[in-house]
Amino acid sequence: MIGETDIQSIDGHDGDGRRAAARLLAASVPVECQGLVAYHATGADAYLGAALSPAPGQRTVILRAARVAGEVIAVADWRIMHAQLFLNGLSVRAQYRGHGYGTRLLDDGVRIARDLGVSALGLDVEVDNVGAYALYQKLGFEEMGYSWWEDVPTPGAGAARTPLRILDWPTFQAQRAAYGFGDLSVRHGDGQVSRVRMVGSVLRVEPGATGAGIAHGLAELVAPSRVYAVRPGSAAGCATAWFARFVRMRMSLSDPGRGRVEYGERRSARRI
Ligand SMILES: CC(C)(COP(=O)(O)OP(=O)(O)OC[C@H]1O[C@@H](n2cnc3c(N)ncnc32)[C@H](O)[C@@H]1OP(=O)(O)O)[C@@H](O)C(=O)NCCC(=O)NCCS
Repeated sequence: MIGETDIQSIDGHDGDGRRAAARLLAASVPVECQGLVAYHATGADAYLGAALSPAPGQRTVILRAARVAGEVIAVADWRIMHAQLFLNGLSVRAQYRGHGYGTRLLDDGVRIARDLGVSALGLDVEVDNVGAYALYQKLGFEEMGYSWWEDVPTPGAGAARTPLRILDWPTFQAQRAAYGFGDLSVRHGDGQVSRVRMVGSVLRVEPGATGAGIAHGLAELVAPSRVYAVRPGSAAGCATAWFARFVRMRMSLSDPGRGRVEYGERRSARRI
């Protein structure tokens, strides 16, 4: 069994470690979601490099990894969000599974959350991912709800376009050019603003008629090869056809710490 000290942060300047982590994380995504998430964007590694550039205490991305003979063999990608530490990705190289690396990385996440003073951990796991689900449940995560991923039909040629105002096109284009994915804000309806994401040529919009309308309005400008939406719901089911389903899980920490720790290379020396 590995120990606590065997888990370390990967920093922005550690290109080899970062690339290995990015590859592992990309491989952990369920097959139904291939090409839809930022880990599969052409610049996923460059994005992580940029996200890990600020000083450790100023970042919102924390990459924690275990290495064997210098090689990254297990990684957790944590995102510091408003009220929780969110597990964006967790992956152990196939030949090292079942040896406690996943458990250690999650225990490490609990410690980070406490140190940051965050009161909960969150994650999404695909319903059919029995191993990962068992791991999370064993460690005390509880089901909070489901999310259903569904394709959004592209409107036929000649259909009237939904009127939209594009708010941050230049930033979106620059982000796509740098990382292969980008987030765009659009104003529609009665001044409502929605965010959409493109990974490669795949567009994610919000579920329902609003998302379909936005996809329609953007079709000419971004020419998506596929449009999908993520619909929050319960385990009971989803009224629309879906291609992937995830359980959202959460672990509340009864006694979060108050301090702030920077998760960089010299973690213990950087309490502020
Ligand atoms: C899920 C994953 C991270 C688990 O990491 P791991 O290092 O193998 O997990 P651990 O050795 O710490 O396992 C701890 C517990 O998790 C559960 N578990 C892990 N893998 C399991 C499996 N395949 N089937 C059933 N239970 C499993 C068990 O309860 C296990 O405890 P036990 O060994 O006492 O039975 C790893 O299998 C992995 O990388 N899978 C592919 C990517 C992935 O699915 N990532 C998660 C995305 S949400």
